[in-house]
Amino acid sequence: ANTGDDRYVKDLSLARWGRLEIEMAEIEMPGLMALREEYKGKKPLAGARIAGSLHMTIQTAVLIETLVELGADVRWASCNIFSTQDHAAAAIAERGIPVFAYKGETLEEYWEYADAIFHWPNGETANMILDDGGDATMYLQLGEKAEADPNFLGEPKSEEESFLFQTIRNRIKLSPGWFAKAKAAIKGVSEETTTGVMRLYQLAKKGELAFPAINVNDSVTKSKFDNRYGCRESLVDAIRRGTDLMMAGKTAVVCGYGDVGKGSAESLRNAGARVSVTEIDPICALQASMDGFAVVRLEDVINDIDIVVTATGNKDVVTVDHMRTMKHMAIVCNIGHFDNEIQVEALKNFQWTNVKPQVDLVEFPDGNKIILLSEGRLVNLGNANGHPSFVMSASFTNQVLAQIELWTRGDQYENQVYILPKHLDEKVAALHLEKLGANLSELSTEQAEYIGVEQQGPFKAEHYRY
Ligand code: NAI
Repeated sequence: ANTGDDRYVKDLSLARWGRLEIEMAEIEMPGLMALREEYKGKKPLAGARIAGSLHMTIQTAVLIETLVELGADVRWASCNIFSTQDHAAAAIAERGIPVFAYKGETLEEYWEYADAIFHWPNGETANMILDDGGDATMYLQLGEKAEADPNFLGEPKSEEESFLFQTIRNRIKLSPGWFAKAKAAIKGVSEETTTGVMRLYQLAKKGELAFPAINVNDSVTKSKFDNRYGCRESLVDAIRRGTDLMMAGKTAVVCGYGDVGKGSAESLRNAGARVSVTEIDPICALQASMDGFAVVRLEDVINDIDIVVTATGNKDVVTVDHMRTMKHMAIVCNIGHFDNEIQVEALKNFQWTNVKPQVDLVEFPDGNKIILLSEGRLVNLGNANGHPSFVMSASFTNQVLAQIELWTRGDQYENQVYILPKHLDEKVAALHLEKLGANLSELSTEQAEYIGVEQQGPFKAEHYRY
């Protein structure tokens, strides 16, 4: 429902349910709640107009309300067409916070919403970006280039790109010069995920990054927790909700053994599946082996696999030729950020039957079918509710600290990609210990001196890998 005042959500009447779950999540998000307490009455984000592009879930609602309590003005969209929890979006909309997101929005709407988060009703534009996957940042970067050179965009290479280009062209026609102005107004971006961070480093390398960026993903308390322990809980949850498949005894292969792959492989093993792993990096392959997973090549095992999961952040990992040879009713899904890990475009030529939202059967000419979850988009947010609140609290506490840093001291940074200092990483962890009943030991002065650290931390050198 378009309420006519910048609240594009599925159904506002879901707000009460959303509010109750937000209140439950707050109990599980001690880091965010501690920041609200620490900055009570101080409003460090006053004046910040944050364009937020991150899965509009219950946990994100707690993040949004924390940013607002710290003084920010926000406009929000989801960074995936399937990841919105409509009751969460409704609860945010009910508070009068502009939000543009519903589960199952079209790709056309997705890019319109990406545009909408930058426009304040009084004609002002956003001055901060909070991004997940880099689409909001890319929208401004591409738009500005297209504004300067009408031939820049060229022909779209996919359906998704055609809607992106269309939104950019509409905006240029409607408000010439807007992209340059909007990009210049941004003081900084904080980026949530591996894939978005990869895009930022590529921009910085080319000298095209237009504002300072904080890489939230590579805080230890983000990627070593959310990507890993989050997926350990949310992957199997998603496959079960999608298919109700008995996991015990099934054969599964996880492509990629980075942080997400490690959590995903463990998730499947904990459910009783027999799990193997594919890797291109010998270090991660060795880790997988020593964690007890067989390291295989996909083409050697694919015809004997019940479940294939991609977790690489790379493209074309599961090809249409792989999928043709899979067992009848094998499950294909992706937990990486973008759907291009699986060649879903190429599957469009075959017969699709929708079972329920985010579950499709794809039939090949020989009659064999596969079960495709969330059309290859990230399965834990498409078929389930993403990660649990507790682990998202650690991620989002880093996000809020990054926003405060960029907003209050952004002028001290260059247009490069930065990581939060270790003492803040340790602070995020510390804020989550009490909830778990963990009691930290303290260094004596002699001990601190002996291992060469300050008594109150940081406790590790920058090169330490956890
Ligand atoms: P990572 O870089 O730690 O791991 C990716 C691994 O895939 C690397 O070890 C790499 O060597 C391997 N890889 C690359 N190409 C490969 C190929 N062709 N075959 C086999 N292995 C290959 O990245 P991380 O943090 O694990 O993230 C992976 C993806 O998941 C990213 O797109 C990230 O944005 C996304 N992500 C998704 C989350 C979710 O909740 N669904 C949560 C966090 C991250």
